[in-house]
Amino acid sequence: MPQYFSRSANSFARFTILGAVCVLVAVCWLGYLIVRSPYEMMQNVPREQPVPFSHEHHVGGLGIDCRYCHTTVEKSSFANIPATKICMNCHSQMWATSPMLEPVRESYRTGKSIEWTRVNDLPEFVYFDHSIHVNHGVGCATCHGRVDKMPLTWQAAPLTMEWCLNCHRHPERYVRPRDQVFSMDYTPPPNQIALGKRLVSEYHIQSLTSCSTCHR
Ligand code: HEC
Ligand code: HEC
Ligand code: HEC
Ligand code: HEC
Ligand code: HEC
Repeated sequence: MPQYFSRSANSFARFTILGAVCVLVAVCWLGYLIVRSPYEMMQNVPREQPVPFSHEHHVGGLGIDCRYCHTTVEKSSFANIPATKICMNCHSQMWATSPMLEPVRESYRTGKSIEWTRVNDLPEFVYFDHSIHVNHGVGCATCHGRVDKMPLTWQAAPLTMEWCLNCHRHPERYVRPRDQVFSMDYTPPPNQIALGKRLVSEYHIQSLTSCSTCHR
């Protein structure tokens, strides 16, 4: 067989292919970074709502407990958004004519719930359970941040699989005494790891990392 291409052409071809593969990998990686960037995941972006409900006012200012509104958070997988009736406990008297609260009054009159925009929203294929976390000493603020300082609610954690697994692998770094779960200003003590290890055994916490824990 006559040689149509010189040896150097051959290594040039290899070099080009290698280059192309590198570029492809870089483009994919960049795309991945963009998709995974906090902005695309809507992390830290306050969400527009039909009523500008402020946790800062109601929790930070008035000191209302989470469970007054999110009544099921300790008992069920789902932490409910409060029904309009709960708002009207106060707002039938307070700020009763405020235009800002008109959607609340309308919802009360018509019986049609307010359509809140979801802030934290996992994909359908992920299973999550509030009561399990709350009853094992994981604080609201650990996953939702300082809600008491949010004029409009935003997603504080990345909610990626890696983020979930980081705690499932090392729960002792995050768990707190159960009576501190709803506290917004709890700060972990300097001996968190020692305390965490004690709580992990006291609350019988396992390191749940098998796929079927969250994908069932
Ligand atoms: C007076 C009632 C009330 C109280 C008290 C309250 N919330 Fe809420 N919460 C709401 C309403 C209404 C929404 C829906 C609007 C929004 O997302 O801001 C909401 C939304 C949320 C969301 C976002 C839900 C989603 O769509 O992902 C989180 C997280 C949350 N609350 C956590 C807390 C925590 C933690 C506390 C206690 C420190 C608390 N809330 C106390 C009424 C309340
Ligand atoms: C325990 C009583 C109470 C409950 C329950 C309550 N509020 Fe309020 N709300 C107040 C008070 C008091 C103010 C005035 C706060 C201030 O000006 O500091 C207020 C203010 C507001 C305001 C306007 C001021 C602002 O920027 O926060 C909105 C909007 C509002 N509430 C929506 C709601 C909605 C929606 C619910 C139900 C999810 C609700 N509230 C439940 C007591 C309550
Ligand atoms: C281990 C992390 C974690 C803890 C602790 C936690 N949450 Fe959540 N929360 C989430 C995730 C993840 C979602 C989104 C769930 C989904 O999309 O299925 C969520 C969603 C919510 C919602 C929207 C309704 C729902 O259930 O999807 C509310 C309200 C809420 N959380 C309130 C609270 C309150 C109040 C506490 C403390 C008592 C709390 N959360 C503790 C991770 C957590
Ligand atoms: C800060 C710590 C922490 C974070 C973050 C966290 N978890 Fe957990 N998770 C726990 C602990 C503690 C338990 C209880 C373990 C046990 O029961 O032994 C648990 C248990 C679970 C369970 C078991 C429920 C059952 O029915 O047995 C599921 C499912 C789960 N977590 C899903 C998630 C998902 C999905 C995320 C991320 C969106 C997440 N967790 C983030 C600490 C965490
Ligand atoms: C503690 C909960 C948890 C466990 C355990 C877990 N996952 Fe996930 N997984 C998630 C969450 C949350 C998401 C969605 C967010 C994301 O895409 O990172 C996800 C997304 C995924 C996706 C979608 C692709 C992607 O990255 O978006 C795949 C595939 C997946 N998981 C496979 C697995 C496999 C395989 C295992 C076992 C080795 C596993 N997961 C264990 C929570 C978990």
